[in-house]
Amino acid sequence: MTQRDVDICIIGGAGHVGLPLALVFAAAGQRVIIYDLNADALKQIAGGTMPFIEYGAEPLLQAALRDQRLLFSSDPRDMARAKHIIVAVGTPVDEYLNPKLRALIDLFKAIKPNLDPDQTIIIRSTVFPRTCRFVLRALNEDGHNWHVAYCPERIAQGHAIRELKDLPQIVSGCSEEAVRRATELFSLIAPQVITLEVEEAELAKLFSNAWRYIQFAAANQFYMVAESIGLDFTRVRQAMVDGYGRAASLPGAGFAAGPCLLKDTMQLAAFNNNSFTLGHAAMAINEGLPNYLVDSLSRRHKLSEMRVGILGMAFKADIDDIRDSLSYKLGKVLRFQGAQVLYSDEFAKDPTFITKEQLVASSDVVIVGVPHSAYKTLVVPDGVDVVDLWGVLPINSP
Ligand SMILES: NC(=O)c1ccc[n+]([C@@H]2O[C@H](COP(=O)([O-])OP(=O)(O)OC[C@H]3O[C@@H](n4cnc5c(N)ncnc54)[C@H](O)[C@@H]3O)[C@@H](O)[C@H]2O)c1
Repeated sequence: MTQRDVDICIIGGAGHVGLPLALVFAAAGQRVIIYDLNADALKQIAGGTMPFIEYGAEPLLQAALRDQRLLFSSDPRDMARAKHIIVAVGTPVDEYLNPKLRALIDLFKAIKPNLDPDQTIIIRSTVFPRTCRFVLRALNEDGHNWHVAYCPERIAQGHAIRELKDLPQIVSGCSEEAVRRATELFSLIAPQVITLEVEEAELAKLFSNAWRYIQFAAANQFYMVAESIGLDFTRVRQAMVDGYGRAASLPGAGFAAGPCLLKDTMQLAAFNNNSFTLGHAAMAINEGLPNYLVDSLSRRHKLSEMRVGILGMAFKADIDDIRDSLSYKLGKVLRFQGAQVLYSDEFAKDPTFITKEQLVASSDVVIVGVPHSAYKTLVVPDGVDVVDLWGVLPINSP
């Protein structure tokens, strides 16, 4: 038997969920294998640089490298060295909005020869209800009793280092032993462990993301109602929430994008036999917002004669991740109307992007795609039509 000289192996360890988790465990004294197929990312991390923005991560990375708490691998044989295996790979939906379970099943098939039933298998990725028991059944086909736990990730991307230490950790497992081991492990980093049945934990994670997505949809629908009669939703919302706790959870309007919220709302819909009216309505509203904005602009301008600048291409503020960003959909819809479209971002790198200053100076219309903090002081020249759902740009003095 291979010697277990490592505490944890994180599969998908170079990703947005896997890497911060690896660093926080390393800071708690654990030896961690960052296992990933992305060789470029592994090389960059091993060199002491984060492959994406995650606030507070780089000092932890450098300390972990100095203390030799991190190992890097794309060789599945290394998995046998770890006591705990944490799976943090992507779990996307397909083009029909159904979860692509096959990828996870194929992953387990491929790695099983390198695992053994003494190890704790912890699923961290967001999964469709009953997936963990499905994985367990597949593992148990060899006649052994495997220990599968489900411990969902609930951080907000970009803020994982702080949140992993602040948020309670939901722990569930398919056996008492799996729950015991996962509880012991996560107690090293989380302030509190909340224990649930596996299916409850799978639902708690999906409900959390669907709930957030629906809240954004409510704000976006309210925005469209207010805007359709020429009113400023930001002012209306501010009056609603000021000193009035019952409305305080209403978010501002804005693009609800990124790789999780829509995807997980659709996982829940697929699980519930496509009967998730609120989720589907939220998708229609949130995904329809770019079309609504263009439609509204086309009533004021001949878009085929306009240069439209989009400020912010990442899917949310102050990070560099463009996955499933609605700014790109907005650009596509504008170009379909004949507009010339300019892109800028503070963090995401693309040789076709221009600076924010160039963008506001050369656009007839400016649309804020994401409220990066750097826009708070950006002055847009007089005469430029501005669409700023978040109200992040400074208000021009009269
Ligand atoms: N990004 C978030 O903020 C967030 C928050 C909570 C939960 N989640 C969930 O966590 C999961 C991972 O999301 P992410 O954003 O970290 O994705 P990601 O794409 O950033 O990371 C996944 C990593 O897995 C690697 N990978 C893919 N297949 C692999 C394989 N077969 N073997 C080894 N490595 C492999 C990829 O190279 C990548 O580095 C998803 O289920 C997601 O829904 C994400």
